[in-house]
Amino acid sequence: MKTEILKLLKESDESISGQELCQRFHVSRTAVWKVIRQLQEEGYQIEAVRNKGYHLLESCDIMTKTEIESCIRGQFGRVVDFHESIDSTNLRARRLAEEGAGSGTLVAADTQEAGRGRRGRSWISPPGKNIFMSLILRPDILPAKASMLTLVAALAVRDGIESVTGLSPVIKWPNDIVSSGKKLCGILTEMSAELEGIHYVVVGIGINVNLEEFPQEVRDTATSLFLETGGKVVRSQLIAAVLEAFEHYYEEFISQGDLSRLISVYNKNMVNAGKEVRILEPTGEYKGRALGINEKGELLVEMPDGEVRHVISGEVSV
Ligand code: BTN
Repeated sequence: MKTEILKLLKESDESISGQELCQRFHVSRTAVWKVIRQLQEEGYQIEAVRNKGYHLLESCDIMTKTEIESCIRGQFGRVVDFHESIDSTNLRARRLAEEGAGSGTLVAADTQEAGRGRRGRSWISPPGKNIFMSLILRPDILPAKASMLTLVAALAVRDGIESVTGLSPVIKWPNDIVSSGKKLCGILTEMSAELEGIHYVVVGIGINVNLEEFPQEVRDTATSLFLETGGKVVRSQLIAAVLEAFEHYYEEFISQGDLSRLISVYNKNMVNAGKEVRILEPTGEYKGRALGINEKGELLVEMPDGEVRHVISGEVSV
């Protein structure tokens, strides 16, 4: 009921009477009042006007389970497991998935004590500023295709950022979201599978949202939406926008069984497309011209002699 009342308050420009809320949820005035008081204690500015009812004054950057759920529009994120602080949302999501949590369950946290990046790196996770979330998925696809979900997630984050802030960041293959050449978001996809099928996939997304300053060691390579736009973002709204876009692209991906329907939108938003890139592979390093991705999400790189190489993984520098 708390989520529903919050949703109603957000959707309504006018005051909603206590009477109306009582009738809608079949509860007493005291019960409604208790929920309103809880919301006020969480930081919502709810005005109670005599003979008129309740009115939400402005949307502020509150991160709670109720807040996130009240913003969700689709199936992804309908169930939210929220923590003020957690070791890592990916680790928590994996534990929940092992216990049977359903596809579309979202784990989110205000801060992470052991945020994890790719290649064993850590991920900066201060409180009150950024987005740390992990989505549990149970796709009926071959394990070999799971890495494609990372590219699907990158598209979703890019779209979500654009729709909420108006900023149009680009994707650095395979899954970094970049603005002014610096990283805004990182994605860490992990899975549990056996040869024939996937038990679950966890897609972990970290977005630098309202952080004003980065530690010296990443200042040249990392940025935030605040630094890029000069404005603060309500994180729950961005989470909902990313999940809505994710659900859309995920359906396209699952219905086709690969990325063929997403190639053009991905290539359009990929910073590397048409540019000279340096590929750093464990076996060595080479340069070529990035042509775009194929239906498997591989990066097609044209070598000086015309040969086109399919890059599966590895670091790409522009
Ligand atoms: C990268 O190295 O680019 C990937 C970073 C992924 C960070 C996110 S934050 C939410 C989720 N939980 C983690 O511990 N990592 C991912």
